[in-house]
Amino acid sequence: MSKQFDVIVIGGGPGGYIAAIRAAQLGFNVACIDEWKNAKGGPALGGTCTNVGCIPSKALLQSSEHFDQASHHFAEHGIEVKGLGLDVAKMLARKDNVVKQNNDGIVYLFKKNKVTFFHGRGSFAAAREGLYDIQVAGAAEEAISGKHIIVATGSSARALPGAPFDEENILSNDGALRIGGVPKKLGLIGSGVIGLEMGSVWRRLGAEVTVLEGLPTFLGAVDQQIAKEAKKAFDKQGLKIALGVKVGEVKSSKKGVNIAYTDAKGEAQTLDVDKLIISIGRVANTQGLNPEAVGLKLDERGAVVVDDECRASLPNVWAIGDVVRGPMLAHKAEEEGVAVAERIAGQHGHVNFNTIPWVIYTNPEIAWVGQTEEQLKAAGRAYKAGTFPFMANGRARALGDTTGMVKMLADAATDEILGVHIVGPMASELIAECVVAMEFRASSEDIARICHAHPSLSEATKEAALAVDKRTLNF
Ligand code: FAD
Ligand code: NAI
Repeated sequence: MSKQFDVIVIGGGPGGYIAAIRAAQLGFNVACIDEWKNAKGGPALGGTCTNVGCIPSKALLQSSEHFDQASHHFAEHGIEVKGLGLDVAKMLARKDNVVKQNNDGIVYLFKKNKVTFFHGRGSFAAAREGLYDIQVAGAAEEAISGKHIIVATGSSARALPGAPFDEENILSNDGALRIGGVPKKLGLIGSGVIGLEMGSVWRRLGAEVTVLEGLPTFLGAVDQQIAKEAKKAFDKQGLKIALGVKVGEVKSSKKGVNIAYTDAKGEAQTLDVDKLIISIGRVANTQGLNPEAVGLKLDERGAVVVDDECRASLPNVWAIGDVVRGPMLAHKAEEEGVAVAERIAGQHGHVNFNTIPWVIYTNPEIAWVGQTEEQLKAAGRAYKAGTFPFMANGRARALGDTTGMVKMLADAATDEILGVHIVGPMASELIAECVVAMEFRASSEDIARICHAHPSLSEATKEAALAVDKRTLNF
């Protein structure tokens, strides 16, 4: 007889491992299956986020930011650095160690919460009498069965037709995080989140970086006042971003990569680089899951079809995170994981899609929650806007980091906050206050009346709230 569980989670990324832990906390007998292998072939829990996503990219962003500060900004503080050097191998080893700490942390959490872990690929085998049979193919073959299945198999980098990833010259996010030395010339296709974060890492370390973006608008999903401010900063840093291009043939050879493209004016161009990162979005991981065995419905992009509550097309089958609709963000996957575990327990798990924050960890950081000014205009919603520049914030001046602003949008009649958009220092942390405010349906006046520590960057948020009512105190 196969081992039987109340809940089987397929995928151990932020969606899956969090769902497994929450289900175990609620008293279920839980298994989690994940196939990710570390360099030695052992398990590496945490999925894309931990292994080749959020965590290693932030480790390299931090290291490269330190290098950039030491190279260009310490002198302003009267700090002289002589003989500054760069050891890329050590930087990568530190990043790998940060990843390992996170992998190990999840193993510990599984033990603590009594989640049974299977290392291998999980696929649907059959459905019978209120149970699903799941085959695990790893070092050993194993058959297990569960009453509830949570599919959390995540996503992989989308390849450009005609330019398959070889992770040597043509890199996905995986190869982009382990380039062995600073390339003289680096190309990126796609100026989305990965393009900007990875482009920033290697630019700060000294590469000449060119980003080719298909759309004519820079960061189209971002409030355009904020995107324009960010673009100015990236231009100053020497990130060359060509918008409105049409990428043609991509040729890889021992010498590097040659990319033919048409620029925004319609003129034919070529770009020669040592390495090319392709960051043009991601695709759901459903190959290998054998959805046909049970008739699990996928959409035309291969994502698992779910309703608003993550219920898939079969009873007691759920799907969360990157493998379903919605933003591909680790915290969105986690929230869905918690909500599904609670729904299985008969509780009312809930994810508020209106208050999911976004952060791009460039310098300046870009962070937002809620609607952009463009979205409000398109919806015909009457709103008031308030902005406050970091230039007028004492802490930002002391930090020597005055780029950017906080922008708050509030309903014209009720003053409810509808969106907050930040470009500037520590935007990733500042946005949390705004998420809380929106979750509690606060007005801009609520933020304006709250005491914020001085001197702190958060005073810029308070001032942006005051600006909604045209009564800033420091600008
Ligand atoms: P994943 O993390 O992709 O995990 C899925 C897991 O399932 C993987 O381990 C996979 O091997 C496993 N799996 C797949 N199929 C099977 C199967 N059949 N059997 C067993 N196991 C299987 N998001 C943020 O919020 N903040 C960031 O800063 C951020 N930075 C990023 C940087 C990069 C470079 C990238 C690529 C992504 C980044 N993301 C970030 C996005 C984030 O990584 C994803 O949204 C998140 O990992 C999705 O979580 P998930 O659990 O749905 O899937
Ligand atoms: P993306 O969707 O952010 O950006 C892709 C970009 O590529 C878009 O601007 C698109 O217009 C462009 N593009 C698509 N096809 C193209 C083509 N043929 N030629 C030129 N340009 C083209 O996707 P990205 O950067 O790959 O990241 C994937 C996802 O991973 C993100 O959407 C995000 O959900 C997640 N992520 C989140 C991070 C964070 O939260 N800080 C960091 C990195 C990734």
